[in-house]
Amino acid sequence: MSDISTANGTWSGRFSEPVSDLVKRYTASVFFDCRMAVQDIRGSLAHARMLAKQDIISNQDLSDIERGMSQIAGEIERGEFAWRLDAEDVHMNIEQRLTALIGDAGKRLHTGRSRNDQVATDIRLWLRDAIDTILALIGEFQTSLLKLAEEHAATPLPGHTHLQIAQPVTFGHHLMAYNEMLRRDAERFADVRRRVNRLPLGSAALAGTTYPIDREFVARELDFEEVCENSLDAVSDRDFAIEFCAAVSLAMMHLSRLSEELILWMSPRFGFIDLADRFTTGSSIMPQKKNPDVPELVRGKTGRVNGHLIALLTLMKGQPLAYNKDNQEDKEPLFDAADTMIDTLRIYADMITGIRVKAENMREALKLGFATATDLADYLVKKGLPFRDAHEAVALAVRAAEQQGCDLPDMPLEALRNCMVHVSGAAEKLADDIFGVLTVEGSLASRNHIGGTAPEQVRAAIARARARLAK
Ligand code: ARG
Repeated sequence: MSDISTANGTWSGRFSEPVSDLVKRYTASVFFDCRMAVQDIRGSLAHARMLAKQDIISNQDLSDIERGMSQIAGEIERGEFAWRLDAEDVHMNIEQRLTALIGDAGKRLHTGRSRNDQVATDIRLWLRDAIDTILALIGEFQTSLLKLAEEHAATPLPGHTHLQIAQPVTFGHHLMAYNEMLRRDAERFADVRRRVNRLPLGSAALAGTTYPIDREFVARELDFEEVCENSLDAVSDRDFAIEFCAAVSLAMMHLSRLSEELILWMSPRFGFIDLADRFTTGSSIMPQKKNPDVPELVRGKTGRVNGHLIALLTLMKGQPLAYNKDNQEDKEPLFDAADTMIDTLRIYADMITGIRVKAENMREALKLGFATATDLADYLVKKGLPFRDAHEAVALAVRAAEQQGCDLPDMPLEALRNCMVHVSGAAEKLADDIFGVLTVEGSLASRNHIGGTAPEQVRAAIARARARLAK
């Protein structure tokens, strides 16, 4: 934006002294709400067209307004528009410039309108665009994620609970867990969009207006699905902004969890992946370092957007109807939440494609935690042992394996039987076919139902996800 001019000037004939420069700066919002200039002009043009259609202003006024607005839009786009702190906000900056350009017709634009319904309209237009960008980016990220998941639909990875090795899963299955989260995120944003997409304009300051306006016409002009049905609510409602921030917080929380995993996996203790160098940075003192700064920042920025959600909830909780100036504070958190979400999704879609998977280390790690112990228990159950007895028999086998420093499939059949003698009926159930069950591949393939980690199921899940994305 160009320099903010602070030329002194009083507000109107109502006031006997000008506000101080400090108060001007304190109350002005043009520093940040100038981001809604395009939406403000679009809303004003729809309003003006309605006024002309209803014979509230003349067609000449309308064509003057259209001409003036088109010049202003060009000035803003080229960075030539002189934003004035003195004019407080984006709405008055544009209106005053319009009047300077076209005279009286500019002064007629605000007929039947207030900045209260104007600003609520602008934010909704702005947020609707932001949501559409976010939805497209979630789709792009999912596309990258599905590609990596497909490549690793059968790559074994230790699945953890309590961060202890639990059971083998495929890396593709693990990635598809995040695809489910992203799918819910997209559903949430699409749902918020429905409530964003209602028109407040026509509510004027709080009570509606005395002019014969046509709100349905304005709604159609601006592609709003509905008209807000209560003027007091329309100018004071910021639920949609709060809902949006809640959806951002949830989506960022998901990406923060993925970030935490990428950070762990990149640490040599895991050594499961490498991130492309363009997402990492070095250390100013330790020459050997390659740090996962981008995922760390995603984790950090999640805290920041959570703050925005709480800021907006707190902003609204004490406000009596209808509009209060407090509402001006809604924009910075909202803009920053949207910016953070958009940048994070953009980075992630790219970062996922640059992941180098170290499958051999994932497989090596699977040897550390008796990951197929549950498979052994399930084997005994299928041969007729009650599950609790099977659990106990395998616990004894794990203890023996641990003492001998080997993994379950490395134990000879006799040794496995011996450690189970105290559980009646267990040892005699064991036969040579147990070793097929105890392998990682056997374990994976046997979880073959919808939602399970069998490679066949992972591929089916990817196919379903692709079909949904294509819609
Ligand atoms: N800049 C104001 C905002 O962001 C516009 C509405 C001002 N309305 C008023 N009555 N002061 O909310």
